[in-house]
Amino acid sequence: MSAGLAVLISGRGSNLRAILKSPVGRQVRVVISDNPQAAGLATAEEHDVATRVLSPDEFHSPVEWGARLAALFDEIDPAIIALAGFMRIIPPAQAKAYHGRMVNIHPSLLPAFRGLRTHERAIEEGAKEHGCTVHYVAEEVDAGEIIDQRRVPVMPGDDPQTLAARVLREEHDMYPKTLETLLR
Ligand code: GRF
Repeated sequence: MSAGLAVLISGRGSNLRAILKSPVGRQVRVVISDNPQAAGLATAEEHDVATRVLSPDEFHSPVEWGARLAALFDEIDPAIIALAGFMRIIPPAQAKAYHGRMVNIHPSLLPAFRGLRTHERAIEEGAKEHGCTVHYVAEEVDAGEIIDQRRVPVMPGDDPQTLAARVLREEHDMYPKTLETLLR
């Protein structure tokens, strides 16, 4: 039977750390990175969680990489696959195959600011509010059904770093709780 969590990362892994330090951390069965240099891999090891690296550079095409990723998911059979700072687009075949089991955290109040540079764009556009969203992964990037959101104010004098830090605090509090709810 499917159980626990697989967490996908690409870099720093601060959301992964928040997950591992929370009660749901015990349910993390594997951390998968597309980047062998991801700092989050060491965090997983510190918590005695198995790690796997699956770099697209080692595959002929995104389709082949996606198929290998799917084989790994099927081998581990997690109940939920959680993208946490995973910077690759999930190929459409896998987004479809794991629909309802794969979730992502995105640093904006979706549907506003899909894609990259969300904090910079929120400031440029004069947004009064910003935040983060946990959503199901769908074939269209950052467009799947919204599960949970947290809001923060945009303060006068904010730069992308100060705003990112405010949003990140909410990400770290929200994501472990949302995952715990989804696993119930
Ligand atoms: C977070 O802001 C997350 O919302 C976005 O990428 C960032 C990853 O940070 N998808 P980290 O690797 O969890 O520290």
